[in-house]
Amino acid sequence: MDAAPGRIVVTAGYVQALTLLARVLPEGAFALEDPGLPFHREAVRFAGRDVVPLPVDPRGAEPAALPSSGVAAAVVTPAHQYPTGVTLHPDRRRALVSWARAAATVVVEDDYDGEFRYDRQPVGALQGTAPDCVVYVGTASKTLAPGVRLAWMVLPGRLVEPVMRAKRLTDFQSEALGQLTLAEFITSHAYDRHVRASRSRYRRRRDLLLSALEGYPLEGVAAGQHVLLGLPGGAPAESHLLRQAAARSLAFGTLGDHWHDRSAPHRAGLVLGYGTPGDGGFPAAVTELARLLREETGGRPR
Ligand SMILES: Cc1ncc(COP(=O)(O)O)c(C=O)c1O
Repeated sequence: MDAAPGRIVVTAGYVQALTLLARVLPEGAFALEDPGLPFHREAVRFAGRDVVPLPVDPRGAEPAALPSSGVAAAVVTPAHQYPTGVTLHPDRRRALVSWARAAATVVVEDDYDGEFRYDRQPVGALQGTAPDCVVYVGTASKTLAPGVRLAWMVLPGRLVEPVMRAKRLTDFQSEALGQLTLAEFITSHAYDRHVRASRSRYRRRRDLLLSALEGYPLEGVAAGQHVLLGLPGGAPAESHLLRQAAARSLAFGTLGDHWHDRSAPHRAGLVLGYGTPGDGGFPAAVTELARLLREETGGRPR
């Protein structure tokens, strides 16, 4: 990454970084991944912006779908798309940067779970390849806890002043105690040790989930704390299984919840989170979910 301290602004979570950008970027809609997190669409709209869908296929977000004008930012999760888990293809990374430069806009890189990659080398930040037009945002929500409310944005130089002004006029500054505590955690290397230990722990959980659900279509398994389970059975199975998974703290939602246009026909799926159940209850929760899934699908993976 290209992250000079003078271009870093600390915010209350990723969502505040996103809404500050919605206040300060030049006029235009925000393109958000489809499927993507519904809460972020809502937050951007609440900040007064139109939201347009940025379709995602097995190579990640599709820059070719972006208009050459009328869009102020394309917001992406390049390392591990949420919720499909795909990694943005190198051609797409280049195309996204070319689009941003040609349209004089920015790409917002939401690196919400980049610390947790299990099967191969970490994916480099897009920001490092184009610091002039990529806003990088990292967060403590996955490495520590969502309640910490600390994130960090790395901005192109021209956006530092406008974003700092918006931050100052929104909540003056992020509270200092949490920042000082995190700074101590980082400089003492305890944060690094914590992330490494968490990575092995989540990897073990992921492996357990994969072996319990062997034969079922699972996507996005190489990183993060969630997988996407395809459900060819469609929406009824989706909502029933969601309730079952939620009762075991294993659910983030249905894939159906994540589409921009929920009324259009889409493939069905469940976004399963494996970070939440306590260590003690995790194996039983996963085994029980696998049993319910077999019941739902007539005893065999499809
Ligand atoms: C796609 C995505 N982006 C960002 C975040 C982090 O948001 P925040 O830092 O506001 O908690 C999450 C959830 O942790 C997420 O799922």
